[in-house]
Amino acid sequence: MYKNYGYGKLILFGEHFVVYGIPAIAGGIGSTTIGVAEKGDKSGIEIIDNRKAVEGYKEGKLKHLAESLELMKKKIDVNFEENPIKITLAGDLFCASGVGASAACCVAIARAISNYFNLNLNDEEINNIAYEGEKAYAGNPSGIDNTVSTFGNLILFERNLEGGSNKIEKLPLGKPMYIIMTNTGITANTKAAVAGVQERKEQFQDKYNAIFNEEIKLVEQAKIALADGNLEKVGELIKQNHKLLQDIEVSCKELDDLVELAEANGALGAKMTGGGLGGYMFALAPDETTWNKISDVMNENGFAVIKTKIGGDV
Ligand code: MEV
Repeated sequence: MYKNYGYGKLILFGEHFVVYGIPAIAGGIGSTTIGVAEKGDKSGIEIIDNRKAVEGYKEGKLKHLAESLELMKKKIDVNFEENPIKITLAGDLFCASGVGASAACCVAIARAISNYFNLNLNDEEINNIAYEGEKAYAGNPSGIDNTVSTFGNLILFERNLEGGSNKIEKLPLGKPMYIIMTNTGITANTKAAVAGVQERKEQFQDKYNAIFNEEIKLVEQAKIALADGNLEKVGELIKQNHKLLQDIEVSCKELDDLVELAEANGALGAKMTGGGLGGYMFALAPDETTWNKISDVMNENGFAVIKTKIGGDV
């Protein structure tokens, strides 16, 4: 049975910095986007988008989705004009900014095409095609989102800035992590967020170099704390990482408020995740009871929640 899905993702440490070759840590989550292809009746690729999503998300990303399809088509040896297909997207990943929805969409589409035309593409080939598709959404993507969306697992990802293979290291996890992901309801433009960091990095070189060096040290510590199962330390580092993301101006009031709310209700640490300027944040709970409590508080305040575990019996 061929896979037909792409995982949603959670960046624990290092979004934005990862674009510049700094290692980042991310994991696949249990929720996925599924893609199923059938014979089409219009020329090219037609998408039927049945994904559940935050209001305005799918409309806001329509142009990116169309561009993304064009980029992916160039990487696949099929004449879609002569062999039209219709791909239906669905699955239990609640789509919004920050959860890897665009990457999961690219992976699901690439897998649907591979399955329909019996191309037998392996995961690495799927990942490469999805990376092309991600360019439409993120401009200059590091490749972390499509990699996690393709392979799942908890990984340390380091972009190869020379254009060669990226470093992907599967990370050991000492203890399972109880995670609550909460969505601000704001659909963000990742491309604009990434471009903004680039502009400010060029303008304020000393300030940004210092922040980037902090992030390198932080990810090194995080890798050790995760392996040791030292969740208190992981929580501290999550807090520090959120601060660094505030410093490079990719957080926003809505994300900061949710981070505060989670921490006030017992989270060991909380931070924005993904491109920022809206989208998702996540909180690390110390135990199952607090996991449920934070999730309930978020729901009571009207926010969509994904409860997920990384490691352990997921
Ligand atoms: C987006 O999920 C993560 C960013 O670091 C962009 C990227 O790595 O391509 C903001």
